[in-house]
Amino acid sequence: MIGRWLALTFALCLVTGFYSHLLQDPSTWAGVTFSRPVWLYGLTQTVHIVAGTVSIPLLLGKLWAVYPELLRWPPVTSILHALERASIAVLVSASLVEVATGVINTFEWYPWPFPFRETHLALAWVILGSLLIHVAVKYPRIAAHWRRSRPAGTADPAGPAPEDTHDAGRSRRRVLALVAAGAVAAFVGTASQNVPAVRDLAVFTPRRPGRGTQGLAVNRTAEAAGVAVPAGAPEWRLRVVVGDRVSEFGLADLAALPQAEHSLPIACVEGWVQDARWGGVPLTALLEAAGASAGDVVVESLERSGNYRMSILPQHFAWDPLTLVALRLEGEPLSLDHGFPARLIAPGRPGVLQTKWLAELRVITGGRG
Ligand code: HEM
Repeated sequence: MIGRWLALTFALCLVTGFYSHLLQDPSTWAGVTFSRPVWLYGLTQTVHIVAGTVSIPLLLGKLWAVYPELLRWPPVTSILHALERASIAVLVSASLVEVATGVINTFEWYPWPFPFRETHLALAWVILGSLLIHVAVKYPRIAAHWRRSRPAGTADPAGPAPEDTHDAGRSRRRVLALVAAGAVAAFVGTASQNVPAVRDLAVFTPRRPGRGTQGLAVNRTAEAAGVAVPAGAPEWRLRVVVGDRVSEFGLADLAALPQAEHSLPIACVEGWVQDARWGGVPLTALLEAAGASAGDVVVESLERSGNYRMSILPQHFAWDPLTLVALRLEGEPLSLDHGFPARLIAPGRPGVLQTKWLAELRVITGGRG
Protein backbone atom coordinates (compact mmCIF):
# COMPACT_ATOMS: atom_id res chain seq x y z
CA MET A 1 0.00 0.00 0.00
CA ILE A 2 2.85 2.38 0.88
CA GLY A 3 4.41 1.56 -2.49
CA ARG A 4 1.30 2.66 -4.34
CA TRP A 5 1.11 6.02 -2.56
CA LEU A 6 4.84 6.47 -3.05
CA ALA A 7 4.48 5.76 -6.77
CA LEU A 8 1.73 8.39 -6.96
CA THR A 9 3.84 11.07 -5.24
CA PHE A 10 6.86 10.26 -7.43
CA ALA A 11 4.74 10.34 -10.59
CA LEU A 12 3.38 13.78 -9.60
CA CYS A 13 6.91 15.02 -8.87
CA LEU A 14 8.21 13.71 -12.21
CA VAL A 15 5.45 15.30 -14.30
CA THR A 16 5.46 18.65 -12.48
CA GLY A 17 9.28 18.71 -12.23
CA PHE A 18 9.73 18.14 -15.97
CA TYR A 19 7.14 20.87 -16.65
CA SER A 20 9.11 23.28 -14.46
CA HIS A 21 12.26 22.34 -16.35
CA LEU A 22 10.66 23.11 -19.73
CA LEU A 23 9.77 26.58 -18.49
CA GLN A 24 13.25 27.15 -17.07
CA ASP A 25 14.98 25.91 -20.20
CA PRO A 26 12.78 26.79 -23.15
CA SER A 27 15.51 26.01 -25.74
CA THR A 28 13.64 22.77 -26.49
CA TRP A 29 9.96 21.93 -26.25
CA ALA A 30 8.89 25.53 -25.50
CA GLY A 31 5.67 24.71 -27.37
CA VAL A 32 4.42 22.50 -24.54
CA THR A 33 4.49 25.28 -21.94
CA PHE A 34 1.40 27.42 -21.41
CA SER A 35 0.69 31.01 -20.38
CA ARG A 36 -2.94 30.13 -19.55
CA PRO A 37 -4.50 29.48 -17.19
CA VAL A 38 -2.44 32.10 -15.38
CA TRP A 39 -2.31 29.93 -12.22
CA LEU A 40 -0.98 26.83 -14.01
CA TYR A 41 2.64 27.05 -12.82
CA GLY A 42 1.49 27.92 -9.28
CA LEU A 43 -0.54 24.74 -9.28
CA THR A 44 2.10 22.44 -10.80
CA GLN A 45 4.89 23.66 -8.52
CA THR A 46 2.71 23.55 -5.39
CA VAL A 47 1.84 19.96 -6.28
CA HIS A 48 5.58 19.29 -6.77
CA ILE A 49 6.58 20.58 -3.35
CA VAL A 50 3.63 18.99 -1.52
CA ALA A 51 3.97 15.59 -3.25
CA GLY A 52 7.78 15.66 -2.83
CA THR A 53 7.52 16.38 0.90
CA VAL A 54 4.78 13.78 1.42
CA SER A 55 6.96 11.22 -0.38
CA ILE A 56 9.61 11.44 2.38
CA PRO A 57 7.70 9.56 5.15
CA LEU A 58 6.35 7.19 2.49
CA LEU A 59 9.87 6.47 1.23
CA LEU A 60 11.16 5.84 4.76
CA GLY A 61 8.16 3.56 5.44
CA LYS A 62 8.76 1.64 2.24
CA LEU A 63 12.45 1.18 3.11
CA TRP A 64 11.45 -0.07 6.55
CA ALA A 65 9.01 -2.56 4.98
CA VAL A 66 11.57 -4.04 2.59
CA TYR A 67 14.81 -3.84 4.58
CA PRO A 68 14.71 -7.60 5.51
CA GLU A 69 15.30 -8.19 1.77
CA LEU A 70 18.67 -6.48 2.21
CA LEU A 71 19.78 -9.21 4.65
CA ARG A 72 18.48 -12.14 2.57
CA TRP A 73 21.10 -14.86 1.94
CA PRO A 74 22.50 -15.53 -0.63
CA PRO A 75 22.40 -11.87 -1.74
CA VAL A 76 22.13 -12.78 -5.44
CA THR A 77 20.84 -15.93 -7.05
CA SER A 78 21.28 -15.21 -10.77
CA ILE A 79 22.54 -12.56 -13.17
CA LEU A 80 19.00 -11.27 -13.60
CA HIS A 81 18.55 -11.08 -9.84
CA ALA A 82 21.86 -9.19 -9.54
CA LEU A 83 20.70 -6.68 -12.17
CA GLU A 84 17.37 -6.26 -10.42
CA ARG A 85 19.08 -5.60 -7.08
CA ALA A 86 21.46 -3.12 -8.74
CA SER A 87 18.52 -1.20 -10.24
CA ILE A 88 16.86 -1.05 -6.80
CA ALA A 89 20.10 0.24 -5.23
CA VAL A 90 20.19 3.01 -7.86
CA LEU A 91 16.49 3.81 -7.32
CA VAL A 92 16.81 4.01 -3.54
CA SER A 93 19.98 6.10 -3.48
CA ALA A 94 18.80 8.48 -6.24
CA SER A 95 15.45 8.94 -4.45
CA LEU A 96 17.06 9.72 -1.10
CA VAL A 97 19.40 12.30 -2.64
CA GLU A 98 16.55 13.75 -4.75
CA VAL A 99 14.20 14.42 -1.84
CA ALA A 100 17.01 15.63 0.42
CA THR A 101 18.36 18.12 -2.15
CA GLY A 102 14.80 19.25 -2.97
CA VAL A 103 13.96 20.08 0.63
CA ILE A 104 17.31 21.73 1.36
CA ASN A 105 16.99 23.82 -1.79
CA THR A 106 13.64 25.28 -0.71
CA PHE A 107 15.54 26.72 2.27
CA GLU A 108 18.05 28.20 -0.20
CA TRP A 109 20.89 26.32 1.46
CA TYR A 110 23.45 24.85 -0.93
CA PRO A 111 25.90 22.80 1.15
CA TRP A 112 27.19 20.90 -1.90
CA PRO A 113 29.61 21.73 -4.72
CA PHE A 114 27.26 20.68 -7.58
CA PRO A 115 24.54 22.81 -9.23
CA PHE A 116 21.13 22.01 -7.70
CA ARG A 117 18.86 22.20 -10.73
CA GLU A 118 21.02 20.16 -13.10
CA THR A 119 21.63 17.48 -10.45
CA HIS A 120 17.98 17.34 -9.39
CA LEU A 121 16.99 16.99 -13.07
CA ALA A 122 19.57 14.26 -13.83
CA LEU A 123 18.45 12.31 -10.75
CA ALA A 124 14.82 12.60 -11.90
CA TRP A 125 15.78 10.76 -15.14
CA VAL A 126 17.70 8.13 -13.10
CA ILE A 127 14.64 7.67 -10.86
CA LEU A 128 12.32 7.37 -13.85
CA GLY A 129 14.52 4.72 -15.53
CA SER A 130 15.15 2.63 -12.42
CA LEU A 131 11.49 2.90 -11.37
CA LEU A 132 10.35 1.57 -14.76
CA ILE A 133 12.79 -1.36 -14.45
CA HIS A 134 11.62 -2.02 -10.89
CA VAL A 135 7.92 -2.02 -11.86
CA ALA A 136 8.62 -4.22 -14.92
CA VAL A 137 10.48 -6.79 -12.78
CA LYS A 138 7.76 -6.78 -10.13
CA TYR A 139 4.94 -6.76 -12.69
CA PRO A 140 3.94 -10.45 -12.28
CA ARG A 141 3.58 -9.90 -8.54
CA ILE A 142 1.71 -6.61 -8.98
CA ALA A 143 -0.62 -8.25 -11.53
CA ALA A 144 -1.23 -11.21 -9.20
CA HIS A 145 -2.18 -8.79 -6.43
CA TRP A 146 -4.77 -6.99 -8.57
CA ARG A 147 -6.14 -10.23 -10.11
CA ARG A 148 -6.53 -12.10 -6.86
CA SER A 149 -10.07 -13.04 -5.85
CA ARG A 150 -9.62 -15.09 -2.73
CA PRO A 151 -12.06 -15.98 0.00
CA ALA A 152 -11.70 -13.93 3.17
CA GLY A 153 -9.11 -15.30 5.62
CA THR A 154 -6.99 -17.16 3.05
CA ALA A 155 -3.39 -16.26 2.20
CA ASP A 156 -2.61 -13.48 -0.29
CA PRO A 157 -0.88 -15.23 -3.23
CA ALA A 158 1.15 -12.06 -3.85
CA GLY A 159 2.20 -11.33 -0.29
CA PRO A 160 4.35 -12.79 2.46
CA ALA A 161 1.47 -13.13 4.92
CA PRO A 162 1.95 -16.85 5.88
CA GLU A 163 5.00 -16.21 8.07
CA ASP A 164 3.34 -13.24 9.78
CA THR A 165 3.01 -13.54 13.50
CA HIS A 166 0.55 -11.60 15.63
CA ASP A 167 3.38 -9.35 16.92
CA ALA A 168 4.76 -8.70 13.46
CA GLY A 169 1.28 -7.70 12.31
CA ARG A 170 0.91 -5.30 15.23
CA SER A 171 4.28 -3.68 14.71
CA ARG A 172 3.48 -3.38 10.98
CA ARG A 173 0.25 -1.57 11.77
CA ARG A 174 2.12 0.77 14.14
CA VAL A 175 4.65 1.67 11.46
CA LEU A 176 1.84 2.16 8.95
CA ALA A 177 0.11 4.57 11.36
CA LEU A 178 3.39 6.45 11.86
CA VAL A 179 3.96 6.74 8.10
CA ALA A 180 0.37 7.91 7.56
CA ALA A 181 0.76 10.52 10.33
CA GLY A 182 4.05 11.68 8.75
CA ALA A 183 2.43 11.96 5.32
CA VAL A 184 -0.52 13.97 6.68
CA ALA A 185 1.87 16.27 8.62
CA ALA A 186 3.98 16.77 5.47
CA PHE A 187 0.85 17.58 3.45
CA VAL A 188 -0.52 20.09 5.97
CA GLY A 189 2.95 21.55 6.69
CA THR A 190 3.47 22.46 3.02
CA ALA A 191 0.05 22.85 1.34
CA SER A 192 -1.17 25.27 4.03
CA GLN A 193 1.31 27.95 2.90
CA ASN A 194 -1.15 28.81 0.12
CA VAL A 195 -4.27 28.87 2.30
CA PRO A 196 -4.28 32.24 4.11
CA ALA A 197 -6.53 31.11 7.00
CA VAL A 198 -4.12 28.32 8.06
CA ARG A 199 -0.83 29.69 6.75
CA ASP A 200 0.87 29.41 10.14
CA LEU A 201 0.64 25.62 9.89
CA ALA A 202 3.15 25.66 7.03
CA VAL A 203 6.03 24.57 9.27
CA PHE A 204 8.00 22.89 6.46
CA THR A 205 8.24 25.97 4.23
CA PRO A 206 10.69 28.82 4.73
CA ARG A 207 8.61 31.80 3.53
CA ARG A 208 5.10 33.18 3.86
CA PRO A 209 3.58 34.72 0.70
CA GLY A 210 2.12 37.78 2.44
CA ARG A 211 5.24 38.78 4.37
CA GLY A 212 7.57 41.12 2.49
CA THR A 213 7.68 44.67 1.18
CA GLN A 214 4.36 45.85 -0.31
CA GLY A 215 2.70 42.77 1.24
CA LEU A 216 4.43 40.33 -1.12
CA ALA A 217 7.27 37.95 -0.20
CA VAL A 218 10.72 38.62 -1.67
CA ASN A 219 13.16 35.81 -2.40
CA ARG A 220 16.09 37.86 -3.67
CA THR A 221 16.47 41.37 -2.35
CA ALA A 222 18.13 44.17 -4.33
CA GLU A 223 20.99 44.10 -1.81
CA ALA A 224 21.52 40.34 -2.27
CA ALA A 225 21.45 40.84 -6.05
CA GLY A 226 23.94 43.73 -5.81
CA VAL A 227 21.55 46.11 -7.57
CA ALA A 228 21.47 49.75 -6.51
CA VAL A 229 19.13 52.03 -8.47
CA PRO A 230 18.95 55.70 -7.45
CA ALA A 231 15.53 56.76 -6.14
CA GLY A 232 13.51 58.09 -9.08
CA ALA A 233 15.95 56.40 -11.49
CA PRO A 234 16.53 59.59 -13.55
CA GLU A 235 19.29 58.04 -15.66
CA TRP A 236 17.79 54.58 -16.01
CA ARG A 237 16.82 53.51 -19.53
CA LEU A 238 15.28 50.25 -20.72
CA ARG A 239 16.98 49.23 -23.98
CA VAL A 240 14.79 47.38 -26.48
CA VAL A 241 16.75 45.77 -29.31
CA VAL A 242 14.94 44.65 -32.46
CA GLY A 243 17.44 43.55 -35.13
CA ASP A 244 19.74 46.54 -35.73
CA ARG A 245 17.34 48.99 -34.15
CA VAL A 246 17.97 49.98 -30.52
CA SER A 247 15.36 52.05 -28.66
CA GLU A 248 15.66 53.40 -25.15
CA PHE A 249 12.80 54.12 -22.77
CA GLY A 250 13.07 56.04 -19.50
CA LEU A 251 10.35 55.93 -16.83
CA ALA A 252 8.55 58.94 -18.35
CA ASP A 253 8.61 57.29 -21.82
CA LEU A 254 7.12 54.10 -20.40
CA ALA A 255 4.44 56.11 -18.55
CA ALA A 256 3.48 57.72 -21.89
CA LEU A 257 2.79 54.31 -23.51
CA PRO A 258 -0.58 52.52 -23.08
CA GLN A 259 -1.01 51.28 -19.50
CA ALA A 260 -2.79 48.22 -18.11
CA GLU A 261 -3.46 46.58 -14.73
CA HIS A 262 -3.77 42.84 -14.22
CA SER A 263 -4.08 40.58 -11.24
CA LEU A 264 -1.40 37.96 -11.77
CA PRO A 265 0.21 35.46 -9.41
CA ILE A 266 3.83 35.30 -8.38
CA ALA A 267 4.42 31.54 -8.26
CA CYS A 268 7.69 30.67 -6.58
CA VAL A 269 9.67 27.49 -7.33
CA GLU A 270 9.40 26.83 -3.57
CA GLY A 271 5.66 26.31 -4.01
CA TRP A 272 4.18 29.52 -2.62
CA VAL A 273 1.78 31.51 -4.75
CA GLN A 274 0.37 35.00 -4.24
CA ASP A 275 -1.86 37.09 -6.46
CA ALA A 276 -1.01 40.76 -6.78
CA ARG A 277 -2.27 43.71 -8.81
CA TRP A 278 0.43 44.74 -11.25
CA GLY A 279 0.33 47.91 -13.37
CA GLY A 280 2.52 48.96 -16.26
CA VAL A 281 3.01 48.78 -20.01
CA PRO A 282 1.73 45.71 -21.90
CA LEU A 283 4.87 44.12 -23.33
CA THR A 284 3.18 43.91 -26.76
CA ALA A 285 2.73 47.72 -26.76
CA LEU A 286 6.39 48.27 -25.87
CA LEU A 287 7.67 45.79 -28.45
CA GLU A 288 5.49 47.33 -31.15
CA ALA A 289 6.71 50.81 -30.19
CA ALA A 290 10.24 49.46 -30.67
CA GLY A 291 9.37 48.07 -34.12
CA ALA A 292 8.83 44.36 -33.40
CA SER A 293 5.86 42.31 -34.51
CA ALA A 294 6.82 38.77 -33.43
CA GLY A 295 9.58 36.72 -31.81
CA ASP A 296 10.94 35.40 -28.53
CA VAL A 297 12.42 37.95 -26.16
CA VAL A 298 15.68 37.74 -24.21
CA VAL A 299 15.17 39.60 -20.93
CA GLU A 300 18.19 40.98 -19.06
CA SER A 301 18.41 42.45 -15.59
CA LEU A 302 20.67 45.10 -14.09
CA GLU A 303 22.09 42.24 -11.97
CA ARG A 304 25.72 41.57 -12.88
CA SER A 305 25.69 37.90 -11.94
CA GLY A 306 23.33 35.20 -10.73
CA ASN A 307 21.42 32.38 -12.40
CA TYR A 308 18.42 34.56 -13.11
CA ARG A 309 19.98 37.76 -14.44
CA MET A 310 18.79 36.70 -17.90
CA SER A 311 15.85 34.65 -19.15
CA ILE A 312 14.20 33.78 -22.44
CA LEU A 313 10.54 34.63 -22.86
CA PRO A 314 9.13 32.38 -25.60
CA GLN A 315 6.88 34.08 -28.14
CA HIS A 316 3.59 32.83 -26.67
CA PHE A 317 4.48 34.42 -23.31
CA ALA A 318 6.00 37.59 -24.79
CA TRP A 319 2.97 38.38 -26.96
CA ASP A 320 0.36 37.35 -24.40
CA PRO A 321 -1.80 40.46 -23.80
CA LEU A 322 -1.45 39.96 -20.02
CA THR A 323 2.36 40.16 -20.01
CA LEU A 324 3.55 43.46 -18.54
CA VAL A 325 6.63 45.54 -18.06
CA ALA A 326 5.41 46.26 -14.54
CA LEU A 327 6.03 49.67 -12.98
CA ARG A 328 3.49 49.44 -10.15
CA LEU A 329 2.43 46.93 -7.51
CA GLU A 330 -0.93 47.40 -5.78
CA GLY A 331 -1.14 50.90 -7.25
CA GLU A 332 2.25 52.09 -5.90
CA PRO A 333 5.61 52.29 -7.68
CA LEU A 334 7.52 49.00 -7.31
CA SER A 335 9.75 48.86 -4.27
CA LEU A 336 13.43 48.25 -5.03
CA ASP A 337 13.14 44.67 -3.72
CA HIS A 338 10.26 44.01 -6.12
CA GLY A 339 12.27 45.22 -9.12
CA PHE A 340 12.10 49.05 -9.31
CA PRO A 341 12.26 50.73 -11.83
CA ALA A 342 10.62 47.98 -13.94
CA ARG A 343 10.20 44.23 -13.92
CA LEU A 344 8.65 41.57 -16.06
CA ILE A 345 5.36 39.91 -15.09
CA ALA A 346 4.04 37.21 -17.40
CA PRO A 347 1.26 34.70 -16.69
CA GLY A 348 2.17 31.07 -15.96
CA ARG A 349 5.92 31.55 -15.36
CA PRO A 350 8.06 30.66 -12.32
CA GLY A 351 8.74 33.66 -10.07
CA VAL A 352 12.49 33.39 -10.66
CA LEU A 353 11.88 34.09 -14.36
CA GLN A 354 9.82 37.24 -13.69
CA THR A 355 13.02 39.24 -14.17
CA LYS A 356 13.45 42.22 -11.82
CA TRP A 357 15.41 45.48 -12.39
CA LEU A 358 15.02 45.31 -16.17
CA ALA A 359 17.94 46.55 -18.27
CA GLU A 360 17.38 45.18 -21.78
CA LEU A 361 14.83 43.33 -23.90
CA ARG A 362 16.16 41.73 -27.10
CA VAL A 363 13.75 40.37 -29.68
CA ILE A 364 14.98 37.28 -31.47
CA THR A 365 13.22 35.89 -34.49
CA GLY A 366 14.06 32.84 -36.57
CA GLY A 367 15.58 30.72 -33.76
CA ARG A 368 17.01 31.43 -30.35
CA GLY A 369 20.50 32.85 -29.97
C1 HEM B 1 10.88 11.97 -6.45
C2 HEM B 1 10.99 13.17 -6.06
C3 HEM B 1 11.31 14.34 -6.96
C4 HEM B 1 11.49 14.40 -8.32
C5 HEM B 1 11.44 13.27 -9.32
C6 HEM B 1 11.77 15.78 -8.65
C7 HEM B 1 12.01 16.27 -9.93
C8 HEM B 1 12.24 17.58 -10.26
C9 HEM B 1 12.57 18.11 -11.57
C10 HEM B 1 12.71 17.27 -12.83
C11 HEM B 1 12.71 19.45 -11.45
C12 HEM B 1 13.06 20.43 -12.58
C13 HEM B 1 14.55 20.71 -12.54
C14 HEM B 1 14.96 21.73 -13.61
O1 HEM B 1 14.34 22.80 -13.68
O2 HEM B 1 15.91 21.46 -14.34
C15 HEM B 1 12.47 19.80 -10.09
C16 HEM B 1 12.53 21.07 -9.59
C17 HEM B 1 12.38 21.38 -8.27
N1 HEM B 1 12.18 20.51 -7.23
FE1 HEM B 1 11.95 18.51 -7.35
N2 HEM B 1 11.74 16.52 -7.51
C18 HEM B 1 11.45 15.68 -6.45
C19 HEM B 1 11.32 15.99 -5.12
C20 HEM B 1 11.43 17.26 -4.64
C21 HEM B 1 11.25 17.61 -3.26
C22 HEM B 1 11.02 16.65 -2.10
C23 HEM B 1 11.38 18.95 -3.18
C24 HEM B 1 11.26 19.85 -1.98
C25 HEM B 1 10.36 19.77 -1.09
C26 HEM B 1 11.66 19.44 -4.51
C27 HEM B 1 11.89 20.74 -4.82
C28 HEM B 1 12.11 21.23 -6.07
C29 HEM B 1 12.30 22.63 -6.38
C30 HEM B 1 12.33 23.78 -5.38
C31 HEM B 1 12.48 22.71 -7.76
C32 HEM B 1 12.69 23.99 -8.57
C33 HEM B 1 14.16 24.23 -8.67
C34 HEM B 1 14.46 25.54 -9.34
O3 HEM B 1 13.91 25.80 -10.40
O4 HEM B 1 15.25 26.30 -8.78
N3 HEM B 1 11.68 18.39 -5.37
N4 HEM B 1 12.19 18.65 -9.36
